[in-house]
Amino acid sequence: MFKHSVSLKTIVGPASVKLGEKICSLTGLEKIRFSIKEFPDGEVYVRLLDDAEGSDALIIQSLSPPQDRNLMILLQLISAFKTNGGGRASVIIPYMAYARQDKMFLPGEPVSAHLVARLIEAAGAERVALVEPHSEMAVQGFRNRIVVDAIKSFAEYYLENGFGEAYVVAPDRNAASRASRLASMIGGGCGWVEKVRDKETGSISSTEGVLNPAGRKTILLDDIISTGGTIVEAIKLLKAKGTLEISVACIHGLFVGNAYEKIINAGASSILASDTVETPYSNISVAEDIVRALREKGWL
Ligand code: R5P
Repeated sequence: MFKHSVSLKTIVGPASVKLGEKICSLTGLEKIRFSIKEFPDGEVYVRLLDDAEGSDALIIQSLSPPQDRNLMILLQLISAFKTNGGGRASVIIPYMAYARQDKMFLPGEPVSAHLVARLIEAAGAERVALVEPHSEMAVQGFRNRIVVDAIKSFAEYYLENGFGEAYVVAPDRNAASRASRLASMIGGGCGWVEKVRDKETGSISSTEGVLNPAGRKTILLDDIISTGGTIVEAIKLLKAKGTLEISVACIHGLFVGNAYEKIINAGASSILASDTVETPYSNISVAEDIVRALREKGWL
């Protein structure tokens, strides 16, 4: 059991500096500072610079690329906090890496999402908040978890920018419930593309699922954009069906290589991505969504 602490502080990891600052300014929480260095052989070293004794902590660190390094930093931050007399460690994971390997697709594979959860709990996390994770299955490895709904911030942007009642499309049937949440907030309908991924090669092919975008502004919403291939395939289908304008949105924008340019060249008029992954393209902040969820659940 963790002991009762006199105060709640934050530890803002290097992969979530901007988001962490926003959360600190919305909550007024004080930060526990730390240093990080890398040994010549590549190992990463973390040391807390402020006293953790007697405090609880919100530890905020995205598992964005480089995923393995950011995971190791998170594990060390949690462990350093607990080893140095810290109380309850509540971890906020804005983007959860390995979430797409949420089951065994082929014989011989691990369920990497559950492995990541076990590592984070083994480091000392008592509870975890995850922003719009890839799937429910992906987060089942965390015994004490909450999921943060970040769609409200996207809905506010679209309502203020001429996309009220736009048609919302998921580029994959599995992402349709997220598209439906956005559609109900902006007052539009929603549909989805049927995407099939070859389990061996990873290549995708998309066909029309339920699509009725003709003559309408369309928002194409996915949880993750990595190479941009999924979105480009969906844009082709939407254009063929006579959509007016396509705005692309994702929660977690990894934008590998020239993914951003590929999507613009395919015909998107704008691309929205949140700060769960901090890149030059992060133009929507989920800080308020996180703080709201933490308050609702009594974490703050
Ligand atoms: C997969 O299931 C995810 O929801 C995304 O659709 C996928 O990660 C996007 O990858 P890419 O941008 O490489 O097509």
